[in-house]
Amino acid sequence: MILNENTQKKVIPIAGGKGGVGKSVISSNLALLSAVNGKKTILVDLDLGGSNQHTMLGMKNNNPGIGHFINNPHMSMDELVVSTPYKNLFLIPGDVLVYGLGELNFDTKKRITMGIAGLEADYIYIDLGAGTSMNVLDFFLISNSGILVSTPHMTSITNTYNFLKSLTYRFLQRVFTDNRSFMGKLNRIIKETNPQSEITIPQFLREISKKDSALARKADYFLQALQPKIVLNMADEKEDILTAQSLSELCEDKLQINLESLGLMYYDKGISKAVKDRIPYLQDHDDTVTALGLNRISQKILQSEHYPEMPLDFDYYSNSFELSEIEADSEFELKQEETGDGIYSEQYVQGLMQKIEEQDQLINQLAQTLQQMGIKL
Ligand SMILES: Nc1ncnc2c1ncn2[C@@H]1O[C@H](COP(=O)(O)OP(=O)(O)OP(=O)(O)O)[C@@H](O)[C@H]1O
Ligand SMILES: [Mg+2]
Repeated sequence: MILNENTQKKVIPIAGGKGGVGKSVISSNLALLSAVNGKKTILVDLDLGGSNQHTMLGMKNNNPGIGHFINNPHMSMDELVVSTPYKNLFLIPGDVLVYGLGELNFDTKKRITMGIAGLEADYIYIDLGAGTSMNVLDFFLISNSGILVSTPHMTSITNTYNFLKSLTYRFLQRVFTDNRSFMGKLNRIIKETNPQSEITIPQFLREISKKDSALARKADYFLQALQPKIVLNMADEKEDILTAQSLSELCEDKLQINLESLGLMYYDKGISKAVKDRIPYLQDHDDTVTALGLNRISQKILQSEHYPEMPLDFDYYSNSFELSEIEADSEFELKQEETGDGIYSEQYVQGLMQKIEEQDQLINQLAQTLQQMGIKL
């Protein structure tokens, strides 16, 4: 596993328990934003059996991709990198030209992982397939800070929780693979099918700690390193972020992992149109609510020197979900004014941005005054 923390190159896999939630749209647009911001970015299409990033970027699928790499042990990952119509953005196409790839064996997964780790880039986005197969879990664990995409619908949230649960077990299995006693106990809880008898990771680690406190501490330490993020997509209202916040609380209670929010994206029919037209949404939309949402998500990654840490200012909100709600609130007002397929007049957006800036300044001044008066915020 590559820990993103303290590495110059950021590797960001994108997954989601459920199909059709927007993983590919979000990964291509975030990769594009990173490229537009001057970062050399590679988008890797690792959705085996469902690769479509070449179409998302308006490209033909006549380049060798991951399928060729898997079938040809002498091929290097660098050979797959192709330029895209966008400056600084490169693509490793999927497996569309090679059929019949199933669950990959350990060596192949390791070759892919090492290949991706060796790529020269500032940011590497990896679009993964839906579901919780071992392929997807292992590729998500290439980094400690992959992004999960979910819609606010209960099935999607439940699938995301199941993904994170499987991910946590898989992660612990990989870290403690040589410890027979730990693995034996972990495998017993994994096999438990009765929800009444299911024990949580904190309970499990308390049990471990009774006999071997160093081992439990080691597990604690590794679980802290796992810092997945969530994007709540296709939302109808800002309150939808609360479903993601509840999911995060559940993850903390039951899995002992910290799930932070990168942001909320509203449902926007302009996105489906862009997918149909085979162009990245942002190519023709740079001043819409959706573009603003994507930019905010991207900036949380780009502005962070030590991503997965995010540039958050807890003077103004108590956590990443509250920030997402504040952002979604301002975007909702903008959305109300949106016309046609989601495009605002430039004048209107500029006016609103100015208003937001003025409000920010006012809040800052007020906060400073209160602090000077010794009032704790
Ligand atoms: N915020 C949004 N508003 C409206 N439509 C959206 C939004 N996000 C994604 N879509 C639409 O949902 C569909 C599925 O998106 P996408 O292909 O990115 O999902 P996916 O999770 O990658 O799917 P799969 O699991 O099949 O790989 C697309 O038609 C896309 O246009
Ligand atoms: Mg997809």
